[in-house]
Amino acid sequence: TCNIAVLVSGRGSNLQSIIDNIESGYIRNASINVVVSDVHDAYALERARDRAIDAIFINPSEHGSKKDYEKYLIGILEEYSIDLILLAGYMRLLGNSFIRRYKNRIMNIHPSLLPSFKGLDAQKQALEYGVKVSGCTVHFVDEGMDSGPIILQQSVRVLENDTVESLSERILEQEHVIYPEAVKLFVEGKLKVQGRIVLTRNYERPVK
Ligand code: GAR
Repeated sequence: TCNIAVLVSGRGSNLQSIIDNIESGYIRNASINVVVSDVHDAYALERARDRAIDAIFINPSEHGSKKDYEKYLIGILEEYSIDLILLAGYMRLLGNSFIRRYKNRIMNIHPSLLPSFKGLDAQKQALEYGVKVSGCTVHFVDEGMDSGPIILQQSVRVLENDTVESLSERILEQEHVIYPEAVKLFVEGKLKVQGRIVLTRNYERPVK
């Protein structure tokens, strides 16, 4: 089985969708072994405990530097023999040595069609830009911000009367579809990373 860790900072609806899709059998041969939060009262921690998943708060202020924090985090991930790390509303940038150590084994979900609208408040950025279509992206995490190889994307139409809340809600519904799908593909060994390009299902790129 694939041992998964989920890193969270807040509400945890994406965590919940992964939990539900493991419990329903859509994702097989995988288990969430630990959920780690950098926010002590993140609702995601409660969701984990509710399903009897170990839920750990790491207090950033108890670890002098990002390096120290991530050393401690790596200790936990090793203890749980983690194969795959999922960022699910985790609002901290990971350091380069952490990312290199888990190259192509860290996934993130972002609420825009990357490479548009990286960083915070992606849905607000999309509304203010005036795009007619936005969406969400699951990608592997590399050393840049929201810049790693793209695994899956889903578009969502932007409506003229959308608010940040209404658009975020419709994008979130699609996040809960493509994140479990990406995890399933990973667990089944169906993702192959060639530089920036992630091939799904078909291992070979078509030759002309
Ligand atoms: C999700 O919309 C996710 O895409 C976004 O935060 C929300 C977390 O919700 N992530 C980012 O903006 C990352 N920069 P959740 O805690 O309910 O899963």
